[in-house]
Amino acid sequence: MKIILGSDHGGYELKEKISLYLKDRNYEVEDIGTHGHESVDYPYYAVQVARAVAEGKADRGILVCGSGIGMCITANRIPGARAVNASEPYEAKMSRRHNDSNILCLGGRFIGQDLAMEILETWLAESFEGGRHKRRVDLIDSLV
Ligand code: RB5
Repeated sequence: MKIILGSDHGGYELKEKISLYLKDRNYEVEDIGTHGHESVDYPYYAVQVARAVAEGKADRGILVCGSGIGMCITANRIPGARAVNASEPYEAKMSRRHNDSNILCLGGRFIGQDLAMEILETWLAESFEGGRHKRRVDLIDSLV
């Protein structure tokens, strides 16, 4: 599975940890930055990651900013992106099971790294249930 990662300065450290975690587990990782603590603007990263996922150039995306909020708002503007801003594992689990979320947003300044990694593990492990949930997810694209 190929996962594309992006962050702003507020999410940089957590994004680095996530990148190592994924590489250790043999995921194919593309990291579009940012690559340091210097202040940058999150929409550039969110749009790039969301487009890659929506166009099938990556299977999943992970976006980290200070809160996860700006990344999530921006990513969900791209048709085909289904981004969730998860602050605990149950949100991550249900977003996979019922909403087929394909982008995980995390708040690097809002949650501790151990909790973030637990959210990530859950999000990676859970599958979409399909059935009535597929009909609803398909409606997102047909109605919007
Ligand atoms: C940057 O200061 C901060 O606004 C950003 O990381 C994010 O939290 C936006 O939603």
